Amino acid sequence: MSSLKSSIERLAAQGEVEHDPDARQTFLEFRDQLTQGKIRAAEKIGAGKDARWTVNAWVKQGILLGFRLGALAEMPAGLSFVDKDTFPARQFTVADRVRVVPGGSSVRTGAYVAPSVICMPPMFINVGAYVDEGTMVDSHALVGSCAQIGKRVHLSAAAQVGGVLEPINAAPVIIEDDVLVGGNCGIYEGTQVQARAVIGAGTVLTRSTPLYDTVRGKIYRASSEHPLVVPEDAVVVPGARAIDRGNPGWGLSLYCPVIVKYRNEKTDRGAMLEELLR
Ligand SMILES: CC(C)(COP(=O)(O)OP(=O)(O)OC[C@H]1O[C@@H](n2cnc3c(N)ncnc32)[C@H](O)[C@@H]1OP(=O)(O)O)[C@@H](O)C(=O)NCCC(=O)NCCS
Repeated sequence: MSSLKSSIERLAAQGEVEHDPDARQTFLEFRDQLTQGKIRAAEKIGAGKDARWTVNAWVKQGILLGFRLGALAEMPAGLSFVDKDTFPARQFTVADRVRVVPGGSSVRTGAYVAPSVICMPPMFINVGAYVDEGTMVDSHALVGSCAQIGKRVHLSAAAQVGGVLEPINAAPVIIEDDVLVGGNCGIYEGTQVQARAVIGAGTVLTRSTPLYDTVRGKIYRASSEHPLVVPEDAVVVPGARAIDRGNPGWGLSLYCPVIVKYRNEKTDRGAMLEELLR
């Protein structure tokens, strides 16, 4: 792995890489390892309280190398489909008088998708993303470049997980095991959502969004060194906070995500994955 890392770093620093005969072969080997989940854009080092997510900047350099080396080409088909034979896709004809709009799901090579992941159309998983076992990526969900999605995560309909390739050291969004990301959420700019947290429908989290914890009486913020971190088991819902700057008479408020509680049995019941659909 270290020789692959040094080859990628050397090629990333080199100009005119397009004419280097070894570059494409090295990239393809790199892409293969990425697709198999053997290398990751970010990984958790250590265990327990000392565990830390570390960004592998060289992996992102490798992905960007692929963009430099790539030439435009016509591509045959997209994803092939595998589903329960009791529910095959309907075949429509003009006689049905139904409009079927083209489009569907896509998973880019260089994204790792573990066995048992479910992808509901239309959804998109970008290069460098890592989606672990038992996760559901629902309709209209986006898993952006290099995003790290844990085991048994539910990315609900229209949940957007932002991607990050540049700047090269920027941390990707990390969603740990057993998290529920509700419908229409947006998780961006390296935000870390720790295990079992529940992000209520419509919540948006960025580096600039303070997160108010009404249970522990704290405010969590990102800094220049650290992303916004949602604690384990937190239940976050969209809220609002009054602002007193400007004209107080306007009575304005700003959007603000709020931790209303920590996960309990009631939350578990609401967050349970629909096993029957699997
Ligand atoms: C977060 C969620 C799971 C609720 O969790 P819960 O543990 O059952 O929460 P509770 O019902 O105990 O609510 C706790 C507090 O938060 C408030 N709250 C809960 N969900 C809220 C929401 N989405 N927006 C604003 N407030 C919310 C409740 O009113 C309650 O406050 P109160 O005690 O002052 O009334 C649920 O709101 C949610 O967003 N589910 C995801 C739905 C979804 O996207 N499904 C995917 C379909 S593809």
